[in-house]
Amino acid sequence: MTVTETQPNTPLEAGAETYFACTDLHAYYGESYIVQGVGFSVRKSEIVALLGRNGAGKTSTLRTIARAGQPELKSGEIFLDGDAIHRMSAFQASRAGIGLVPEDRRIIAGLTVEENLQLAQIAEPKGWPLERLYEHFPRLAERRRQEGVTLSGGEQQMLAVARALARDVKLLLLDEPYEGLAPVIVQEIERILHEIKSLGLTTIIVEQNAIAALNLADRAIILDMGNVVFDGTAQAVLDNAELRQEYLAI
Ligand SMILES: Nc1ncnc2c1ncn2[C@@H]1O[C@H](COP(=O)(O)OP(=O)(O)OP(=O)(O)O)[C@@H](O)[C@H]1O
Ligand SMILES: [Mg+2]
Repeated sequence: MTVTETQPNTPLEAGAETYFACTDLHAYYGESYIVQGVGFSVRKSEIVALLGRNGAGKTSTLRTIARAGQPELKSGEIFLDGDAIHRMSAFQASRAGIGLVPEDRRIIAGLTVEENLQLAQIAEPKGWPLERLYEHFPRLAERRRQEGVTLSGGEQQMLAVARALARDVKLLLLDEPYEGLAPVIVQEIERILHEIKSLGLTTIIVEQNAIAALNLADRAIILDMGNVVFDGTAQAVLDNAELRQEYLAI
């Protein structure tokens, strides 16, 4: 059963408010049918927490949206700011403004922090200039000459987020940005994400630390077995112990 708080799975015809929408996504890893009809929409400047238990399909959904090779999208539509992302390659989707920050962060070895950021700006469309990135990520400014892969886990996460912002990102997709980080570092990244939120960047955040994600997010979408089982406000999830127990085990 789908629990509905606000309009669920609102397709594009919902009107000008909808900035991002995916409808009825079906995606496979080889023969494995994993994303099984996911659909939801995101308004401009909204932060949506995409939650669910281990294996619910959160990472697969983000990868499908970013048009990563796997899982393979077999049917469904993805629109961002009027562009048909479902017809694009990963490269084209990135150029259209999809900014995926994967769980493993993918900092490039052999390059300094600054070179990692510069590499993101080698092609148009560019996002924030370096000075602006360093303003929001002072730790990266301090370590700009250090090789990226030698940063701490938290600093690498900051670099991964900064690198996404170095592109002209319209939809930021964060896959477990707090994973494996000490609470004090989580707080620092939270502070940065709140800053980014105040600047109005549209974001989807996947996080095991559901409470932290819900505190940041406006809305929440809960996945279970590759499909959406809840679409509503973040507050509604915080207020609903039964729902959290059933789908998030918290
Ligand atoms: N490369 C792959 N090949 C085959 N199956 C995969 C692959 N990656 C993920 N899966 C399967 O797809 C399902 C959803 O996985 P996914 O990683 O999207 O879940 P998740 O919600 O991100 O979980 P977690 O909270 O553990 O990160 C799982 O059953 C997983 O085993
Ligand atoms: Mg995952």
